[in-house]
Amino acid sequence: MIRKVLLILVVLVVVLVAGIAVFVASRQHLSFAATPYPPLEASTDSAVVARGRYIVRDMANCAQCHGDTTQVQAMLSGADVPLIGGRVFDIPPGTFYVRNITPDAETGIGAAPAKAIARALRSGVGIDGRALLPFMEFQGFSDEDLIAVVSYLKAQPPVHNVVSAHRYSALGSVLKATVLASPVGPKPDVTAKSPRGATAENGRYLVESVALCVSCHTQRDEKTGAFTGPRLGGSAGFITDERGRYWSTPNITVDPTHGRLGSMSEDQFVTRLRAGRLLPGSPMPWQGLMKLDEDDLRAIYRYIKTVPPSTHDPGPVGPTEKKS
Ligand code: HEC
Ligand code: HEC
Repeated sequence: MIRKVLLILVVLVVVLVAGIAVFVASRQHLSFAATPYPPLEASTDSAVVARGRYIVRDMANCAQCHGDTTQVQAMLSGADVPLIGGRVFDIPPGTFYVRNITPDAETGIGAAPAKAIARALRSGVGIDGRALLPFMEFQGFSDEDLIAVVSYLKAQPPVHNVVSAHRYSALGSVLKATVLASPVGPKPDVTAKSPRGATAENGRYLVESVALCVSCHTQRDEKTGAFTGPRLGGSAGFITDERGRYWSTPNITVDPTHGRLGSMSEDQFVTRLRAGRLLPGSPMPWQGLMKLDEDDLRAIYRYIKTVPPSTHDPGPVGPTEKKS
């Protein structure tokens, strides 16, 4: 009797596992190619390309992931290194290779229409129609800035550089079939034009959608990336530098005792940002942020002043080999 029950159990488990395996395998090549393209075209206007450079290089720091991995020191000193990809993320879901985004037709984005690149950034749908891995959080770019970024990428010198295909682990394949199956989609509040000038509105756009101060300076769930702590209240155990060491990010709210901006006037904030990286190896992209237009720096400060002050204390700023 017991043997029979065991046998039935074993058969059930085998059927279940096989079922899951078939389900997972059937969802490895989902296509979202029907997702509409943003109705945008690249431009060769020098002012548009210059705005794109400002975003790609100084504000959003695409080179941190897409830059030539043999030129990290030059990148950290502020050089516009070629965006040939190759950086490797070796994480539990798999081994992922950052793509070549120079306009080489064969190995980069040269053959992709501008609107397909725009869709990749805004909706998380890859040039080939698959859901992109959620590494990039630029779904809030305005139409104007999306055009500028794509125009700048298209204006780069093409560099032939073959990047390996991603390799998913068993865990990664399951994630790909389930929680990562659908593309992130655009932010609900995208606008046609970007706010400009030293206003809190412009600051909000820069902090939340372009320079992504929130991404690093807010506590997040290590596995899902979901925000779990107070906005700009600092984080621990999430941000690593290019050597894989962990850095806590300070609370940058205006709380008088726990927030960095609590004891900084607007002018002191501008002076601090202009000074650039003071802690060697800090993963904050100081090399670009130190060059922001003064209006943008003031805008950022004015927006952060409107964010509720937080008493969250993420602990001493890194680097540490282990998670804090
Ligand atoms: C945190 C690292 C990171 C940053 C920062 C980053 N990228 Fe990416 N990017 C990736 C990874 C990883 C992929 C590959 C995603 C995939 O294949 O699912 C990628 C892919 C791409 C692609 C190709 C999409 C495709 O369909 O193959 C484009 C275009 C791109 N990134 C543009 C940018 C631009 C522009 C910026 C800056 C505004 C940027 N990236 C910043 C990590 C990053
Ligand atoms: C890639 C992650 C990352 C991003 C993006 C980022 N920071 Fe940071 N930030 C850090 C880390 C790590 C530190 C601590 C190390 C240091 O001070 O360099 C830090 C420190 C700071 C400090 C304290 C500096 C001091 O000397 O007291 C301020 C202020 C700050 N960030 C503001 C910002 C603002 C404003 C933005 C967006 C415009 C931003 N950060 C974007 C990671 C980041």
